[in-house]
Amino acid sequence: PIALFGEQRKNSMGVNLSNDNELNALAASVNAARKPWLAEPLVPGVKNAGEFRDVTDPADRRRVIGQTRGADVPTLDKALANAVAAQPGWDALPAASRAKILEHTADLLEARRAEFIALCVREAGKTMSAAIAEVREAADFCRYYGAMARKLFAQPEVLPGPTGESNELFLHGRGVFVCISPWNFPLAIFMGQVAAALAAGNSVISKPADQTTLVGYAAVKLLHEAGVPADVLQFVPCKGSVLGNSLLTRPDVAGVCFTGSTETAWTINRTLAARDSSIAALIAETGGQNALIADSSALPEQLVKDVCASAFDSAGQRCSAARVLFVQEDIADKVITMLTGAMAELTMGDPGLLSTDVGPVIDEASHKELSEHAERMDREAKLIGQVAAGESTVHGTFFAPRAYEIPRLDILHKEIFGPVLHVLRWKADQLDKVIDAINATGYGLTLGIHSRIDDTIDHIVKRARVGNCYVNRNQIGAVVGVQPFGGENLSGTGPKAGGPHYLLRFATERTVTINT
Ligand code: SER
Repeated sequence: PIALFGEQRKNSMGVNLSNDNELNALAASVNAARKPWLAEPLVPGVKNAGEFRDVTDPADRRRVIGQTRGADVPTLDKALANAVAAQPGWDALPAASRAKILEHTADLLEARRAEFIALCVREAGKTMSAAIAEVREAADFCRYYGAMARKLFAQPEVLPGPTGESNELFLHGRGVFVCISPWNFPLAIFMGQVAAALAAGNSVISKPADQTTLVGYAAVKLLHEAGVPADVLQFVPCKGSVLGNSLLTRPDVAGVCFTGSTETAWTINRTLAARDSSIAALIAETGGQNALIADSSALPEQLVKDVCASAFDSAGQRCSAARVLFVQEDIADKVITMLTGAMAELTMGDPGLLSTDVGPVIDEASHKELSEHAERMDREAKLIGQVAAGESTVHGTFFAPRAYEIPRLDILHKEIFGPVLHVLRWKADQLDKVIDAINATGYGLTLGIHSRIDDTIDHIVKRARVGNCYVNRNQIGAVVGVQPFGGENLSGTGPKAGGPHYLLRFATERTVTINT
């Protein structure tokens, strides 16, 4: 149990990955759960009428797994009117009532784990272990933000004042929050954004990523079943540009919570800033050009294992993933040889199989971008490792993980969102240059450090401008309430998801002074 401001809260136990019986039973129910799924707008008062389009499995594009249709501008207008009308009532509920609904959501998620894992595997191409972790993280977010709401919102802060005067500070929801979530964590980040905004007393209009509307729809249905009123949480699958040009320009939007690319965060920021109305809160968690620094005291076996997890888990489609390994010259040849060997052992294929390490990338556009990057690296760098692409991958959007030794960091112009690792050697007197080069990318999300020298670790931690530093382990998979997650500079605005300050950005403060 985690003592969170006096409350006992436990993170979800998830699934015991070392128990074969439990895993095989889960895999069987996940595969049985495969069926046509559906997603459409959930906006009270609107009768959906648009055309459905097929959703296909990224592991095999011939397989139709469901159908989805989107929201048009009048639907978004109606959603906003509903959300404006519903918010004061939701905000007026005791915080404990909102928390209970979120905790009930977490219980339902765990009870229906197989269905949600199946959705994450089939729509997002998540491997079984990654999909299990998604469900666990989503449940953790619900319980954590529920607990934070009880702590922060239930009672006002009583402040000192002169005799005959009482002063109290109350927290309230800001109003209508628009939550815009990414496809790489279609359940965990989707649920985290929505749960935080709801816990703080906001009404929410949620837009899933285009690629993962089925997961988002199922999550919203679950929150409704747990007790969130239909007008307090609405679901509007649509193109980002449609949302940006209509909903985000409206004065009634009090805040936006966005996870995705830095470029899209800039666009949202500009749109919100151009309104002559309330100054909206923007919480953006964006990209990274994440590095791992290994010095000559690093243990090569552990380093290579952690590099493979950090760079290739989830097919490298994590904002936390390692993109550049800086390895000290003295151990570089050994590490590269071991990395080549370790990559040859990885299995790429159907993410529904427990034996698969690397699943597909999300779509054709992503595959094309990665292939173009690899073509350029083939010309400008040296290929040092590659995962074999088996026959089972020919009908999906699979991109075999690769590692390149590159001559200079500046041949990387932007974040490469997939399983491509870049390796650079450094000499003993170049450590500060390495850290400064990492800082100079402008991103500041995760940093891995592998070293056995305390002074070196301490020096890097102090000089690097990043949100999450991981020492002598992998640099992915932040745990709610344990490793609050989020970056700085081009990587995001903060506050950190799954951290004690997150809900405050979703809230407005009111001071009441009474002359008694
Ligand atoms: N929170 C995820 C991780 O830590 C990334 O979004 O990997």
